[in-house]
Amino acid sequence: MPLLENYSLKQLNTFGINVNAKLFANITSEEDLAEVFSNPLVKENKLLVLGGGSNMLFTRDYDGLVLKVSINGISVKEVGDDVFVTAGAGEVWDDLVKYCVSKGYAGIENLTLIPGTVGASPIQNIGAYGVEIKDVLESCTAFEIATGEIKTFSRADCEFAYRESVFKGKLKGKYIITSVTYKLSKTANVQTHYGAINTEMERREITNPTIADVSEVVAAIRVSKLPDPSTIGNAGSFFKNPIIDKTVFDELVSQFPDMPHYPAPDTRVKLAAGWLIEACGFKGIVDGNTGTWKNQALVLVNHGGATGQEVYRFSEKIINTVQQKFGVLLEREVNIL
Ligand code: FAD
Ligand code: EPU
Repeated sequence: MPLLENYSLKQLNTFGINVNAKLFANITSEEDLAEVFSNPLVKENKLLVLGGGSNMLFTRDYDGLVLKVSINGISVKEVGDDVFVTAGAGEVWDDLVKYCVSKGYAGIENLTLIPGTVGASPIQNIGAYGVEIKDVLESCTAFEIATGEIKTFSRADCEFAYRESVFKGKLKGKYIITSVTYKLSKTANVQTHYGAINTEMERREITNPTIADVSEVVAAIRVSKLPDPSTIGNAGSFFKNPIIDKTVFDELVSQFPDMPHYPAPDTRVKLAAGWLIEACGFKGIVDGNTGTWKNQALVLVNHGGATGQEVYRFSEKIINTVQQKFGVLLEREVNIL
């Protein structure tokens, strides 16, 4: 398998940042992985695994090897009411959602329209509208870089938390996910508790929603709030929603009673970063070629020709301002390279 040199990543990251990789290879099978890692050049270079590039900000050319995972294939096993759907890591996540919704396999309809690939879905435990991958992931298989072996991880092995997994933590950089199995159900147990879904269902006068209804409503809400990366570069939420101690929260909420907040594990409290950023006057502002999205202050955008450095510097400005006003430190959700 040839390693391509000085390869443009502009079309391979949803921020649309114009950078090149020193070396690049497209991986379509586990055999491709074995072959690439038998090349001595690989050990001399740092490595980046790339899915759809929808959670990345490149601040410079990548001085190493980029492996784009394009392993495809979907298989289904039905056991009574349960449906085990296994997908190759390179499958487009939203195509899988559409496939499952069309077949009546319930469980991932709330995750409609999230960009990216199946292989990345466990990395940050993708989540939206009341559902996270941790609720449906049965297992995943991964290529161990050090040994070339394929290992299986159960849901517990993945150590999921809000926008976290073992693959972002202690196993970072050690495995390449090759497939994921989701446990879905032929019986719909629709999750409509997220406020915005309920409101939209009521507006549409839908009282007994199907999974197709949930998928449609989630898609409509997302389109109204989030910029489409095919027209305006972005990587979704740029920061995580901060989780703070209850005592700190009690102090803050007495000053800012309108502040949205949600229960988090261990009696902590999750705040809405978008609200904090908007309250600092950043919503919809343009800063050079970058800025925040007009309908969602948590999303940083590329208005055209932005460099990764420019977006990064703007994100620092936001972090500093939010810290000064609220004493809350925002953490970037996007991977900075
Ligand atoms: P990439 O950006 O290519 O990679 C992300 C990370 O995963 C990197 O660390 C990469 O090295 C690693 N990785 C990728 N593939 C593999 C693999 N096969 N094996 C090992 N490591 C791998 N996220 C949410 O959780 N919820 C949302 O609602 C949401 N909305 C979004 C909306 C928009 C408009 C955009 C642009 C992004 C949004 N995101 C959301 C973020 C993004 O869609 C997810 O993080 C997605 O899982 C990234 O997938 P990807 O294939 O593009 O990963
Ligand atoms: N809000 C504002 N101003 C804003 C944005 C949001 O006041 O500019 C307020 C909203 O009014 C609401 C609260 O903040 O009260 C939460 O907003 P929203 O429902 O839009 O969700 P979010 O917390 O901003 C999170 C995820 C999204 C996910 C949505 C839906 C994170 C970091 N982001 O956003 O995920 O789609 O919930 O579940 O957890 C992503 O990770 O890239 C992403 C888009």
